[in-house]
Amino acid sequence: MPTIAIVGAGSGLGLSIAKVFGRNGFSVALVARTQEKLDGLAAELREAGTEAAGFTADVTDRPSLVAAFTRIKERFGQVDVLEYSPAPKTSTGAMIAPLDATVENLQPELEYYLYGGLTAAQQVLPEMIERDAGTLLFTTGGSSLDVFAGPPEFGNIAVATSALRAYALKLNQVLTGTGVYVAHVPIFAWIGSGGPETQADTIAELYWDVYTKREGAEHPYDIR
Ligand SMILES: NC(=O)c1ccc[n+]([C@@H]2O[C@H](COP(=O)([O-])OP(=O)(O)OC[C@H]3O[C@@H](n4cnc5c(N)ncnc54)[C@H](OP(=O)(O)O)[C@@H]3O)[C@@H](O)[C@H]2O)c1
Repeated sequence: MPTIAIVGAGSGLGLSIAKVFGRNGFSVALVARTQEKLDGLAAELREAGTEAAGFTADVTDRPSLVAAFTRIKERFGQVDVLEYSPAPKTSTGAMIAPLDATVENLQPELEYYLYGGLTAAQQVLPEMIERDAGTLLFTTGGSSLDVFAGPPEFGNIAVATSALRAYALKLNQVLTGTGVYVAHVPIFAWIGSGGPETQADTIAELYWDVYTKREGAEHPYDIR
């Protein structure tokens, strides 16, 4: 049974992606900071017939992320799909306009998006390359692709998610023609804010589509 690891798994997009892959025969490893919340999500997935378990890690605490993947592999074996989508609600907390940016206040955002995403990828990529099979999916907000999409206060997020986007696209470039597929999904929507097109379950269908078609490096979900 293939396994998807969802890093930054909450009751929104993370759970919805888990449900879609679970319905299609995947086991699901959920990664976030709060074991209790993860246990609740895993129980919901198991009730729907999906094998699932939660593994705590903070993406800004790299050793904790490495340790989580060790536990995931002990439990599920190889990771076939990595999806990286932590939600910044309670991470660094700050929104910094460019005129207020400093090395000190940009660093936490880079830790969160770029270094967290890179660290997660490093836990699965060497084995995927050896097997010549696997998928990495990176999720960000739309300002990674269109820096004018958000207000100036999204400055630090735009810079850091643009860096993660560039890393994902360069991975796609170097791995094109191999069995390992990498894609970036920038979301131009407030998830759950309105009609069906904003709902996490709707957006999650895109991930199954991207995973199965394996075409192109970038798949914006844009409902502007
Ligand atoms: N929500 C939106 O409107 C929106 C808009 C555009 C793009 N996106 C993208 O969608 C993805 C998130 O979807 P969502 O908002 O529906 O979130 P979600 O899947 O409901 O939850 C994400 C989870 O990330 C976890 N998380 C936060 N900080 C973390 C950290 N430092 N280390 C590990 N886990 C952490 C949180 O759990 P813990 O607190 O337990 O760690 C949270 O439950 C992100 O890629 C985001 O960029 C969201």
